Amino acid sequence: MKIQSIRGVKDILPGEIEKWHKVEAAARRVFSPYGFKEIRLPIFESTHLFKRSIGETTDIVEKEMYTFTDRGGEEITLRPEGTASVVRSYVQHKMHGQNQLVKLYYMGPMFRYERPQAGRFRQFYQIGAEAMGSASPTVDAEVMTMLITLFNELGLNNVELQINSLGCPECRPPYRELLKDAIRKHLDELCSNCTQRYERNPLRVLDCKVDRDREIALGLPRISDHLCQACRDNFAAVQAALAGMNTPFTVNNQLVRGLDYYTRTTFEVVGKEGLGSQNAICGGGRYDSLVEEFEGPPTPCFGFAVGVERLIATLPESTWQDIVRRPDIFAVLLGDAAQQQGHTVIQKLRAQGWYVELDYEGASMKSQMRKANREESRFALIIGDNEIQTQQFVLKNMGNGEQVTLDAGQCVEQIRKHLDVPKPE
Ligand code: HAM
Repeated sequence: MKIQSIRGVKDILPGEIEKWHKVEAAARRVFSPYGFKEIRLPIFESTHLFKRSIGETTDIVEKEMYTFTDRGGEEITLRPEGTASVVRSYVQHKMHGQNQLVKLYYMGPMFRYERPQAGRFRQFYQIGAEAMGSASPTVDAEVMTMLITLFNELGLNNVELQINSLGCPECRPPYRELLKDAIRKHLDELCSNCTQRYERNPLRVLDCKVDRDREIALGLPRISDHLCQACRDNFAAVQAALAGMNTPFTVNNQLVRGLDYYTRTTFEVVGKEGLGSQNAICGGGRYDSLVEEFEGPPTPCFGFAVGVERLIATLPESTWQDIVRRPDIFAVLLGDAAQQQGHTVIQKLRAQGWYVELDYEGASMKSQMRKANREESRFALIIGDNEIQTQQFVLKNMGNGEQVTLDAGQCVEQIRKHLDVPKPE
C-alpha cells in the first residue's frame, strides 16, 4: 500500500525550501532592530487554552481544531494559532516582571481542520509577532510598519493594509445589541451559519463570505459609527502614527476578524492579486484583555501573524533569483591516488564554507565534467594521476572554460582568489 501525506498537508521540498529560508531570514533581520526576540512555543497545548482565548463560538473552536485525548486522559489540541500560547507563556513565566514592553516573535506550523483549497491548508505556517505591555497607538503603528517593511524587503509592494477598530468593553456591548436587532430583520435571508450564530456572535455576520450575506452586511450598522470617544480618539491616533511612519493603509469598516480576543485596532494585509478568495496574507490587532483573562496583570497587547504559504505565493518571481545554491567547486577525481589526496583537499575546501560536489561512482573524466556542468558548478577542480605526480592541480572555470594550475600545497588560498571574483551576470 502506498502511503500518501494527509489531505491539506504538504512536504516542502528542496527547491521550494530555499524560499522559506529567505522569508524566515528576512523576518529575523527586519524584526531584530525593533527589539523583537524569538520564542519557541509548544506545538500542542491544553484544549482549554484555545477555547478560552479564541472564543467558544468562533469557527476555529467550533469546527477546526485538531483535538484529542492523550493516553493520560488530558484534552490536547494542536495549536491553531500562536497568540494564545504566547499569552500563556507570558503569564506562566511572569514576563510582566521585566517591566517593559515584551516583544516576541515566533515561526512554525499551525493546524486547522479547514476545507483545503488554494492558499488554505490543514497544516500551514505562520510568522507571528506580539508586543505585550503597552496601549500606545504608536505600538500599533510601529508593529504594522515593521510588517510592511518585511513585505517590501521581500519585494512585495502590491498589498493593501486594511485597518479597523472593534471598540472596547465600553462601546462594543451596546453596538452588539444594536447589530443583533438589525440582523434579526434579515434572519430569513441569511445563510444557515449566520442565522445560527448571530445570537452568540453577531459580529461574524459582517464577515460572512456568502454573496447575499455580504450585501446585507453592507447595510448593517458599523462599529465605526458607534465607537466611544476614547476608542475614536485612539483609532485616529493610530492612523496619524501610521501616516507619520509613511505606511499607507485603508480603513475597512467591514473587517471583524475570526477570533474573539480583539479589542480596538484590528487589521489585515491582503494581496491585490493572485490569491483568489484566500487573499489575507496576514491578520492581527490589539487584544488588551487576554493576559488578564489568564490571570496575568493588566497587559495591553498588539500582534499579527503572517501566513507563510500565502506570502510565498504572493511574492514576485524576482524575489527568488539566485536562491538555490549551486556548487562552487566540482571535484573531478580520477584514479586511486587522486581519490585519497582529493578527499583531504575537499575537506579543507568545505571547511571554508564552499560547496563542493563530486562523483561517487567512479565515472569517466568526460562524464564527471558533464555532471559538473549539469549541476552548474562555478569551477571544476581536476585531480588525476598526473596532477598527483606533479602536485599541480587544474582549476577550470565552467563559465568561460579558462584553466589555471594550482600548487597542491596552496590550493585553498589560490582557489579563494578565483572564487572571490564575482560571478558574471
Ligand atoms: P488569523 O487571521 O487566523 O490570525 O491567521 C493569520 C494568517 O494565517 C492569515 O492571514 C493567513 O494568511 C494564515 N492562515 C490562516 N489559516 C490558514 C490556513 N488554513 N491555510 C493557510 N494559511 C492560513 C491569527 O492566527 C492570529 N493569531 C494573529 C494575531 C497575532 N493576532 C494578534 N496577534
